[in-house]
Amino acid sequence: MLVVLAFLTIDSLDASRAGGRQVPDYDVINQHIGYTYDWSRRLEVPVIGPAEPLFGRTYSLQEASGLMSFGKLVIQSRACMDCHTFFGNGAYYGPDLTKAWLDPAWSQIWMPMTGSSTREAAMVAFLMHPDQYPTWTRRMPNLHLTRAEAQAVVAYLKWMSAIDTNGFPAHFGRIQAQN
Ligand code: HEC
Repeated sequence: MLVVLAFLTIDSLDASRAGGRQVPDYDVINQHIGYTYDWSRRLEVPVIGPAEPLFGRTYSLQEASGLMSFGKLVIQSRACMDCHTFFGNGAYYGPDLTKAWLDPAWSQIWMPMTGSSTREAAMVAFLMHPDQYPTWTRRMPNLHLTRAEAQAVVAYLKWMSAIDTNGFPAHFGRIQAQN
């Protein structure tokens, strides 16, 4: 039994650490992240595509790791989980953020709305002034993020979208507000 437990622990660590089987290294933020349906697993999986610099630049693994730590601190300090979920943990007042980077609303609604030419610029504009760019029945309050804080959060969200979460959340487009 102990052997089985030890194997399972090591196996899930290998799957769940950055750079592990299902969780890419942080410098994946330099690449395009897509999504496709995997018929053999019968769920949606991320597809890590060609180079796609974030904010017009390519980050080394060390720089990307620093950005992730900063992004995580911003997310913890502003208690985003009071309203949002990450990997299903948190609250459902706002949308689940696990795959927020891939939300078609960035290109369809927020890029034109904020006059941005890239998805990441639209995300930064929204995160710095969510009260100015509402798209939903429920509003996100202005949490007074600086540009650097918003950029770190965007990098974190891009990395998170590249994680193979065994298909979670299914149909990650926006959940409909109930009110
Ligand atoms: C008081 C509740 C609340 C808090 C706290 C909050 N949000 Fe939100 N957030 C929302 C709501 C509601 C929306 C939907 C707003 C809209 O579409 O106009 C939203 C939308 C978003 C979106 C767009 C998601 C998508 O794909 O549609 C992102 C990204 C986001 N929030 C990130 C954050 C981050 C990062 C934090 C913490 C720094 C945070 N939010 C804190 C309520 C909140």
